[in-house]
Amino acid sequence: MDIYIRLTADHEHQRDLFERITDTEGDTRARKNLWRQIKVELEAHASAEEQTFYAELMSRPEGSDKARHSVAEHKEAADLIKELDDIDMSSPAWLKKLKHLKDRVEHHVDEEEKEVFPAAKKLISSSRAASLVQDFNQRKPAEKEKAA
Ligand SMILES: [Fe+2]
Ligand SMILES: [Fe+2]
Repeated sequence: MDIYIRLTADHEHQRDLFERITDTEGDTRARKNLWRQIKVELEAHASAEEQTFYAELMSRPEGSDKARHSVAEHKEAADLIKELDDIDMSSPAWLKKLKHLKDRVEHHVDEEEKEVFPAAKKLISSSRAASLVQDFNQRKPAEKEKAA
């Protein structure tokens, strides 16, 4: 197990949550429930990822541009989440913005997997990539509690 496999497992979970919520309708318990899960998952994943993987990548001069770009995309997703929370969940505007968030998150995780991780593999040793899993697994539950 290394940090890339661990982070990709979270990404798969996020893709799945977005697929499921786009099948829900209106102001229903299913939609509310999935929306709460998406918010907590996205916030906790991004925070734990920044404190472990991106902190490591940022410390390498050749990795800092990619790390900064990803952190900016985390902020963009967090802003969209705030905007969604201010819109009535049963309105077409909410679903439209949700689909925008889904597109942006899918773009972000695809980019991490296809561009950031391959670049990071050249800069971070495989033993560090393995030990980052423990760091991430320690941070994530604490960040989930904060986000809940
Ligand atoms: Fe990310
Ligand atoms: Fe990620």
